[in-house]
Amino acid sequence: MGFGPLMTRVASGKEAVAEAARLLRDGQVVAIPTETVYGLAASALDAQAVARVFDAKGRPQDNPLIVHVADEASLFLATAEVPEKARTLMRTFWPGPLSLVLPKGEAISDAVSAGLGTLAVRMPSHPVAIAILREAGIPIAAPSANLSGRPSPTSAAHVLSDLDGRIPLVVDGGQCEVGVESTVVDMTRDIPLILRPGAITREDLEQVVGSVDAHSGHVEAGEAAPSPGMKYAHYRPRATVRLFSGPPETVAKRIRTLYDQTEDGGGSPLILCARNTAPLYGARKIGVLGCSRSEAQRAMFAALRSADAAGADLVLIHYEPSMGEAVRNRLWRASADSEQL
Ligand code: TXA
Ligand code: MG
Repeated sequence: MGFGPLMTRVASGKEAVAEAARLLRDGQVVAIPTETVYGLAASALDAQAVARVFDAKGRPQDNPLIVHVADEASLFLATAEVPEKARTLMRTFWPGPLSLVLPKGEAISDAVSAGLGTLAVRMPSHPVAIAILREAGIPIAAPSANLSGRPSPTSAAHVLSDLDGRIPLVVDGGQCEVGVESTVVDMTRDIPLILRPGAITREDLEQVVGSVDAHSGHVEAGEAAPSPGMKYAHYRPRATVRLFSGPPETVAKRIRTLYDQTEDGGGSPLILCARNTAPLYGARKIGVLGCSRSEAQRAMFAALRSADAAGADLVLIHYEPSMGEAVRNRLWRASADSEQL
């Protein structure tokens, strides 16, 4: 499938919502805002529309998409069964950044689930996403609206920089509030299993449904991945990313040495760190990831993209536990290597 000479428009407001809904019903692909990251949306009932999503992103065919619903009718169309624990989580966290893996409904195209018998489904809370879903009236499949392997998009400008000319419309809903993709939880087991950490934490889930397991995210070569997304390199800017954690002074010493060596060798390094550790880096070039979990989540993907805009060839990241598990997971996936000091 070719992309032809598509003009990508960026629009907002009621007319953009109506146009997005019309394009979606028509089997087209549209980028829409959600509270987590922008999504590349298509009808989950239409195999051809879903194929366009894989095509536009360059996504591996075996990596399934998340289905977005705005009401019970779409939920029951998308799923074959909703167990009690899943209902409890929906009542507490929907609409919001939580995707639940459930048995797939027959109406959903096999292309969405990449042939799996299960489906990840969520109800987003962004008012523009909800408006589009309601007006389209169908379950909508939407992976993050980035080129496969790149950092996820948290603004319409990020979407455009990856997908300009590949899709007809980006609906602009401002900067994403949450900034990291939804927590994905496998609900087909007795004890729910977190497949991807997000803003809704293991502790948040356990308060509502008791024990919850968490996958490490590490998959050995040759081992079957419980979530296909775990197998793939992700979130990578053009620069090489290296991740460091440990006592702040020790980490800073290591990063300062690497930074200075790189600069002396004619390279262009950049440091990403929390606001409280920024003074450890003096006049070196830094990007600040805030000083709380929610701030780090909101800043992270834009910071990785800004490394490209700044022409950096090496990004040295000083991870702090205050940034939280969702950020740690994304930074680790973005990194060529990591050091625990
Ligand atoms: O917040 C989000 O979830 C965003 C917005 C747009 O809603 N979407 C998103 O989609 O992050 P995507 O495609 O970038 O990530 C979907 C993840 C992948 O890691 C995929 O492997 C996993 O969910 N996944 C989807 N269906 C699954 C299934 N049936 N079983 C296990 N993992 C699944
Ligand atoms: Mg993604």
